[in-house]
Amino acid sequence: MQLETIIHGATVVTGNDTRIADIGIRDGRIVALAENLDFPAAERINATGLIAMPGGIDSHVHISQPSGPAVVMADDFDSATRSAAFGGNTTVMPFCLPVGDQSLREAVAEYVALAEGNCHVDAAIHLIVHRTDPATLGQDLPALHAAGFTSFKVFMTYEDLVLTDREILDVLEVAKSLGAAVMVHAENEDAVNYLRDKAAAEGRSEPVMHARTRPVPAEREATHRALSLAQIADVPITIVHVSNGEALDEIRRARQRGQVVHAETCPQYLTLTEDDLDQTGFEGAKFVCSPPPRDTAAQKECWQGIELGDFDLFSSDHCPFRFADPQGKEAPGARDSFRNIPNGIPGVETRLPILFSEGVMKGRITLQHFARITATNHARLYGLAPAKGSIAIGADADIVLWDPTVTRTISQTGLHHGADYTPWEGFSVTGWPVASFLRGKPLLQDGEINSHQGRVLECGQPDQKAFV
Ligand code: URP
Ligand code: ZN
Ligand code: ZN
Repeated sequence: MQLETIIHGATVVTGNDTRIADIGIRDGRIVALAENLDFPAAERINATGLIAMPGGIDSHVHISQPSGPAVVMADDFDSATRSAAFGGNTTVMPFCLPVGDQSLREAVAEYVALAEGNCHVDAAIHLIVHRTDPATLGQDLPALHAAGFTSFKVFMTYEDLVLTDREILDVLEVAKSLGAAVMVHAENEDAVNYLRDKAAAEGRSEPVMHARTRPVPAEREATHRALSLAQIADVPITIVHVSNGEALDEIRRARQRGQVVHAETCPQYLTLTEDDLDQTGFEGAKFVCSPPPRDTAAQKECWQGIELGDFDLFSSDHCPFRFADPQGKEAPGARDSFRNIPNGIPGVETRLPILFSEGVMKGRITLQHFARITATNHARLYGLAPAKGSIAIGADADIVLWDPTVTRTISQTGLHHGADYTPWEGFSVTGWPVASFLRGKPLLQDGEINSHQGRVLECGQPDQKAFV
């Protein structure tokens, strides 16, 4: 058998085991997986001492998303996917949001045009459903689902995006008829607004009030409600960016009732706290995201959720805004009130190194567990498997090589996103992605990216069985 590439001697993490093996690649796919492959190959890469994992799939990133009249997201497809590639990813999944009265189909056509030709990794697109008019539910969603956009996100907060319970049920009903996956952003909008008004009456406007007006009960209640709505509609559901154990307990209870629930958490809930928002001046704005980081007890609860396998997905929720920028965190009115600070933090490049270091290197999770929650489960849930998310015969050769001996200090100067800061400045990690392959072609190589090889992917039917 003539091969294009053999990756030789790495510790290979497959769905079944972790062992030293060679990976044979032809026509962009993995075609052989065995000890000492003895075939001719155009290229033979010595990966002894490295760990070969499925390329990271970050299924929760925001790229060039419309963010209000005066605010511009710090990443377009070029910079976001460059940053993703340097962080060991081979696929990202951003969200398409219509502007004004644009239809979802018009918005998707525009968004795909922004992505095409500008991606360094592959991209597959989720749909934000923030309207439930008959055209959106009856025409746009079915047509887009048939065209490979098979996952929807709904919001229980944010003035411009929030849906009522009835509207969420209507979206769930459509999703059920199509077999689409539905992600929920679970925070109680009325509770947040009540607390915001109280904060204003008390003259409290500093960044930390963002966290204090979005407390755990607001997330726990909305999580419970979302799960109940899914039970009523009799449909699986995914709760994204879970920040604490109380919300996670709601998910556990729903699973005990027999519901299929997928759950996601993110690096910010393992490593940051509300104290990061509680700094002098405007510095706390760098950490403003929703749900907000909590406290060290909540961090422990999230770690426990990962260790016990309660979290299926570990994503970044990369949502970058420049800090020293009037179109970013310094948006009009942001210094006067936390309410005007754009929500979101950058993290697509640091997601995998943080989990590798804090999770694998510290003995909390195995390499296989890491691969599942950073790639395999994302591909399954969002209809990209079996081509994506696994090192397996027949799969796309999307592979990342990790050097577990490298220790790095995360710093803005070493990152490639469009933001001008990282929330993890000075955070030390052990283990780093040193090379990667996208459909068999070198992507990350010798500290550089081989540019613009990414494609916009069509998703198949989500695998909505329980993963645990
Ligand atoms: O603060 C955040 N997470 N912004 C991104 C939008 C979202 O809710 O995921
Ligand atoms: Zn969200
Ligand atoms: Zn998000």
